[in-house]
Amino acid sequence: MKIVRNPVVSVIISVIILFTLYYSLSSTSSLSEPKPIAPSTKSNELIKDDKEIVNTPFMPKMANETIKAELGRSSWKLFHTILARYPVTPTENERETLDQFIQLFAKIYPCGDCAQHFNKLLDEFPPQTSSRSIASVWGCDIHNKVNKRLNKPLYDCAHIIEDYDCGCGEDEENAKKEAFEIEKEGKQSGG
Ligand SMILES: *[C@@H]1O[C@H](CO)[C@@H](O)[C@H](O)[C@H]1NC(C)=O
Repeated sequence: MKIVRNPVVSVIISVIILFTLYYSLSSTSSLSEPKPIAPSTKSNELIKDDKEIVNTPFMPKMANETIKAELGRSSWKLFHTILARYPVTPTENERETLDQFIQLFAKIYPCGDCAQHFNKLLDEFPPQTSSRSIASVWGCDIHNKVNKRLNKPLYDCAHIIEDYDCGCGEDEENAKKEAFEIEKEGKQSGG
């Protein structure tokens, strides 16, 4: 006996078959193709996917001891000043930024032989970024490890915070004053 189909049913069956075919094909093709990498949502994240960050120091050896010592003094000053002004309670992003800065600074430091030593120290004693005081004391400790290797006198890290007065108190006072002025202006213009 011949099966008589309603044309509407035939169309529906054809559509179902087409969809099934389409989805099975598209799912197998997505299996064979690599998934595109989702773009990073963090704007400050370093580009690591298609541009490899150099992971070892690469600057030439610095022969002139006078220039080397001068560079060292300036760099330690910058280093300790950054840590002294670093937030008391940093955000996750700020912690990541400090960590990456120190790691990259150690790679690109212009005295290549110094950078080799400092980079090894960082592997052993990674940056501690959880607060201003912890970061500052970590920075002081690592400076002392370098001092020890160079037979230089050690620094008393118990006083690093007072000794490296960052002037943050003053800046924070000014920021408060500014905020107050803005608030006052807002009230006045509001009536
Ligand atoms: C090292 O650099 C300083 C400053 O540029 C220069 O006066 C001195 O002559 C240099 N020393 C040597 C040994 O080249």
